Amino acid sequence: MAPAEPPCELLDWDTRNFGFQIARVPSGRLDGESAAAVDRFCEERGVRCLYLLADDADAETARVAAEHGFRHVDLRSTIRHRLEAIPAPGPPPGNWRIRAGAEEDLNALGSISARSHRSSRFRFDPAFPPDRVDALYAAWVRRGLEDEAKSLLVVDLDGEPRGYQVLRPLDEDGTGALELLAIDEANRRQGVAIWLLSEALRRMKRAGATSVTTVIGARNVGSARVHQRLGFLTERVDSCYHRWDRRPPR
Ligand SMILES: CC(C)(COP(=O)(O)OP(=O)(O)OC[C@H]1O[C@@H](n2cnc3c(N)ncnc32)[C@H](O)[C@@H]1OP(=O)(O)O)[C@@H](O)C(=O)NCCC(=O)NCCS
Repeated sequence: MAPAEPPCELLDWDTRNFGFQIARVPSGRLDGESAAAVDRFCEERGVRCLYLLADDADAETARVAAEHGFRHVDLRSTIRHRLEAIPAPGPPPGNWRIRAGAEEDLNALGSISARSHRSSRFRFDPAFPPDRVDALYAAWVRRGLEDEAKSLLVVDLDGEPRGYQVLRPLDEDGTGALELLAIDEANRRQGVAIWLLSEALRRMKRAGATSVTTVIGARNVGSARVHQRLGFLTERVDSCYHRWDRRPPR
């Protein structure tokens, strides 16, 4: 008989970033029995915050999560572009350029990222220290440059970085994925994001992608509209939950 899957998975990167033990429920499902196993795991391993990402249509998991102290913190839609027709909006007026990111961009991009991802589940949940949430997004952008499998597209105005899109490598089935996207506040609502995103789609198609997915949070209307304009369609909706152990650390 195959060994049973552990009920939780410890998350090293999140634990290091926030400075306390974080884990997730990898199956994304809970029933009475698995919730008891999750409780035991968290107790034994001193898990302070537990993430659960569950299919939003899974009523049993939602019920058990509520009974076991999980708090609903976001709704995430997975959306997909089929790359059959990619709209081609041009750049806004001015000396704009899209190019590969470089080490010299990271300070400016880190500062944009720290101010940008404020609608995320980490900011919605006040138990996460805001400065560590900002550091998480800055590190995510940095990984777009330093992780050789990923790529970082930068949009600049007169040579100054004003936004970014992090791209993940293609899966074996030709699916590409987009990660973080942000535009500096001073340059929003001018069509910069839609231009950058459409260029990212074209580059992924040229690299052999047959479709491109990304994930958007339900309270991020701006992000939803940018992706909708380009023709992304919703594929699934998941609920995000956090559960905190409020006892003082042992
Ligand atoms: C979301 C974001 C990238 C949009 O950038 P932008 O350059 O302002 O977007 P664009 O000017 O290209 O707008 C494209 C479309 O989205 C709409 N839109 C953009 N931001 C919007 C907002 N806050 N509310 C409503 N609609 C918005 C625009 O009006 C336009 O739609 P329209 O054609 O119907 O007018 C930018 O607001 C941002 O960086 N936000 C913080 C980071 C973030 O949320 N990133 C996405 C998740 S990783």
